[in-house]
Amino acid sequence: MKLKKPGKPVLTGTRIVLRPITADDADCVFGGMDDAEANRLTGSHGEFPYDRVAAHCARVAKADDRWDYAITVDGRMVGEVVLNEVDEDNSSANIRIVIWDPEARSKGYGTEAMELLTRFGIEEVGLHRIELGVFAFNPRAIRSYEKVGYVHEGTRRHALLWDGEWIDQHTMGMLASDWAARTA
Ligand SMILES: CC(C)(COP(=O)(O)OP(=O)(O)OC[C@H]1O[C@@H](n2cnc3c(N)ncnc32)[C@H](O)[C@@H]1OP(=O)(O)O)[C@@H](O)C(=O)NCCC(=O)NCCS
Repeated sequence: MKLKKPGKPVLTGTRIVLRPITADDADCVFGGMDDAEANRLTGSHGEFPYDRVAAHCARVAKADDRWDYAITVDGRMVGEVVLNEVDEDNSSANIRIVIWDPEARSKGYGTEAMELLTRFGIEEVGLHRIELGVFAFNPRAIRSYEKVGYVHEGTRRHALLWDGEWIDQHTMGMLASDWAARTA
């Protein structure tokens, strides 16, 4: 199936704005990786040197096969939401999100960001399926994804080893038909 190439428009919600990440966001993205709680909840082992983060931002800004968006509140970047791993043959992609500013969590911004990028992926890119992985120790994220309409599809047992403990990872997915039914 041929996907559409809608570019990377700014996506405006009611309380947040998603804008494409640029090379200039390297400092902010690097700083965000300093939050221990966000690293635990995303299962991020290890540290990334600044140069690697800067190269990543520059690369994703130019890429036309993925959508890396800054989540902004009143113009300030509080996290990122990313549609990546596009499989054009199967019209599917992965989505992931992190709000690295603790003060900006649990205010509805994450759910709104997921709604905006999910809508874009399905309606503008033309994806048939979007999936995500979420660790079992993250009920807030699971609840947020359920509110957008993501459905639990299965569980990868002991996918993460964190502080000596094995953690399951749930796969949640959204089909274009799920989205259409929700927004009808
Ligand atoms: C996960 C994340 C994106 C969610 O965004 P958010 O803006 O914090 O979440 P929202 O405020 O939109 O919604 C959270 C929902 O979970 C609920 N919730 C919060 N804590 C909860 C808990 N312990 N158990 C169950 N539900 C919980 C909230 O009440 C809210 O639901 P409601 O609106 O029905 O009341 C954000 O918290 C985040 O980035 N966290 C750190 C990194 C992370 O976990 N990334 C995701 C990895 S898969």
